[in-house]
Amino acid sequence: KNEISIGLLGLGTVGSGVAKIIQQHQQDLHHKLGAQVLIGKVLVRDANKDRLSSLDPSVFTTDIEEILNDSSLDIIVEVMGGIAGAKLAIEKALRTGKQVVTANKDVMAEYGHDLLKLADAEKCDLFYEASVAGGVPIIRTLEDGLASDRISSLIGIVNGTTNFILTKMKKENMSYEDALAEATELGYAEADPSADVDGIDAARKMVILSSLAFSTEVHLDDVLVRGMKEIRDGDLELANKFGYTIKMVGSSTKDEDGIEVSVEPIFLANSHLLASVNNEFNAVYIYGDAVGETMLYGPGAGSLPTATSVVSDIIAACRNLQLGVNGKRVHSAQHERVIKPETK
Ligand code: NAP
Ligand code: HSE
Repeated sequence: KNEISIGLLGLGTVGSGVAKIIQQHQQDLHHKLGAQVLIGKVLVRDANKDRLSSLDPSVFTTDIEEILNDSSLDIIVEVMGGIAGAKLAIEKALRTGKQVVTANKDVMAEYGHDLLKLADAEKCDLFYEASVAGGVPIIRTLEDGLASDRISSLIGIVNGTTNFILTKMKKENMSYEDALAEATELGYAEADPSADVDGIDAARKMVILSSLAFSTEVHLDDVLVRGMKEIRDGDLELANKFGYTIKMVGSSTKDEDGIEVSVEPIFLANSHLLASVNNEFNAVYIYGDAVGETMLYGPGAGSLPTATSVVSDIIAACRNLQLGVNGKRVHSAQHERVIKPETK
């Protein structure tokens, strides 16, 4: 193929970053893929909105079916968010033989197992690197880089919005409300930011990471989730006074009894590396039998960092299209016992 055409579902924080990278890196993409990557159609809710985009207005549509039924599109990129509509769109795209890329952790945490099986059955790919930790390539690391190892635990910060809020409250004495408003303004927060502050977004990401790390099916109900509301008045001052920092930490551990997954605010000694992960940045420690300890760190939210992961997935999908193969991943869940941890 000389041209690969993308159907972009959504042109918000992430979608506009994707369009920007594809347009600005056109030559590099051509060099890497031997084909031109074009944005053929873009789904938006409001076609008349003012947008900082140099896309030709003729590519915009508000009718999702126009994109899903367009046989000239090779790859569908779902960055519209939400659950039911996004899941239907991904299913339909896979059933019509399209490669699919998504940044949607809500859908991947809830329906990822079924969608990945559907992708295999349809001999298509479903890539979702941007669904966890924005611009940090953690999905690939677990799927490929550490595939040889037996992972025993993951611990880290996987939500940019809450980390941004906690950083601003600690370092600039900003109020919770102002810090959340700034995180929203910067495009870090979810459409409904309660998913961030109540720990649900981080729990969904821990579901995705745990399922991959332990080759099993972890579900949202299995996760102990405690949100920012658990941080009481005075806790931040107390932490400061005794050399600690409060962080929302996700943890997933496997032992002989099973797997335990949690997300909760905890006091970390300032000497702990996670205590110095600030603003919208994320970091995850991965412990493996052979590798020992490794850590990934980088921007966990925001337009261009997240779009970097989406476009990397687009490149992977393009390569498979050019080779006429799909990822041929094996999704044989081991059905480990998952135990919901006790609230301490
Ligand atoms: P966003 O800024 O709210 O953008 C959503 C885009 O989708 C908008 O362009 C909107 O159109 C369009 N859209 C939404 N629902 C639609 C519908 N029913 N019909 C037509 N168009 C629709 O969201 P975002 O922050 O880019 O997030 C997108 C996805 O990426 C979400 O799943 C999110 O969880 C995930 N994600 C976000 C980040 C981040 O840092 N923001 C990082 C990683 C993953 P209009 O422009 O007309 O409103
Ligand atoms: N709302 C999410 C966060 C976006 O703050 O981490 C990135 O997944």
